[in-house]
Amino acid sequence: MSDYRPSVKEKLEAITTYLLQPANGQREKEILLNGLYGLLTPREGVEAEDPQRMDLKYGVAISTAQARRCLLDKKRTLVFLQGIFEAILELKKDVNGPLHILYAGCGPMGTLMIPLLPLFLPEDIQLYLLDLHPEAIRGVRQVIRESELHDYIEEYITADATTYTRTDGRKFHMIVSEAMDAGLHAEPQFAITRNLHPLLMPGGKFLPEAISLNVSLTRYEKEPRIDHQTFTLENFVHKAWCEEKRTPVGHLFTLSKDTFNAGPEVFTDNDEEYIKLPAVTIPELSHKDHADMVLFTTVRVFGDHCLYTGDSAITSPVFLFTATEAHHGRPLKFHYVINRFPRIGFEIG
Ligand SMILES: C[S@@+](CC[C@H](N)C(=O)[O-])C[C@H]1O[C@@H](n2cnc3c(N)ncnc32)[C@H](O)[C@@H]1O
Repeated sequence: MSDYRPSVKEKLEAITTYLLQPANGQREKEILLNGLYGLLTPREGVEAEDPQRMDLKYGVAISTAQARRCLLDKKRTLVFLQGIFEAILELKKDVNGPLHILYAGCGPMGTLMIPLLPLFLPEDIQLYLLDLHPEAIRGVRQVIRESELHDYIEEYITADATTYTRTDGRKFHMIVSEAMDAGLHAEPQFAITRNLHPLLMPGGKFLPEAISLNVSLTRYEKEPRIDHQTFTLENFVHKAWCEEKRTPVGHLFTLSKDTFNAGPEVFTDNDEEYIKLPAVTIPELSHKDHADMVLFTTVRVFGDHCLYTGDSAITSPVFLFTATEAHHGRPLKFHYVINRFPRIGFEIG
């Protein structure tokens, strides 16, 4: 009997190869994502992780322990891996030599990039791993050591991505960052995108490519939500129900690297930065018990690789307020606050 044991790198390669095949079974993919969680947890054991989140000028950096668990938001992880893989293949068509990729908010496992590395050569990818928490960088170093992927890593960076700059003129072919929650609330995705997109080379890609926020009238309790602790669907809702019963109210905003080409104008009020978003008119209630104004988030990672309501915690619906007949026809003004707790704000005129 052979005593051959696959290395961590070989196991990562086998798991990721399976995950990237659209035709492979969802159930098997979920089991393999649990396996991935085990593989990216160092065999030497997880060092004491800071259970504290950090409240920064432009949003909350969740704790290292919580960042680790994001992998288990399974459809999120899967769709990000698929989208990032395709974006790398597309960039590789035009780039000779390694792609320089900055992964901002890599967490202690490097979840969205490390599993992809064994599918390429170090000559294809040079990765810069950045996180605010020193424990995250210590964790990700350990993972790289155990999976023998050092040759793919250019730098480990402990820094705040909302203010990080380079003094050596380095630009990136791709920047990957997922530091967000539903509705772009709480975490600093907006400020990270605003600060880092100038570090892209011309034609470079910022992933996710687009995060769209829309509001609709609906019945909040009937909308599908993924629990933020267990990452399971809290309630089963048939997709047809949602489409039939929602009344679209308006598109508020799309966050992408292009958001910053011509603005948006940033205002300051009491030391808080904010941007103005479109005003809408509150429509007539088409169903009396579907009167909740709810914020919906769609994340397009790359190409067709998208996360919609009910797919992940980061695309769960966010309740704003319950409208009444008296609100019909009144203006509803939105803005986005960029402070320690970023969020959508609104006023009813
Ligand atoms: C939602 S977790 C995602 C972890 C991992 N990338 C994943 O997708 O599974 C966000 C990560 O971003 C980091 N982070 C949050 N704010 C940051 C900031 N301002 N600068 C650098 N890293 C930040 C957190 O420490 C955390 O590791």
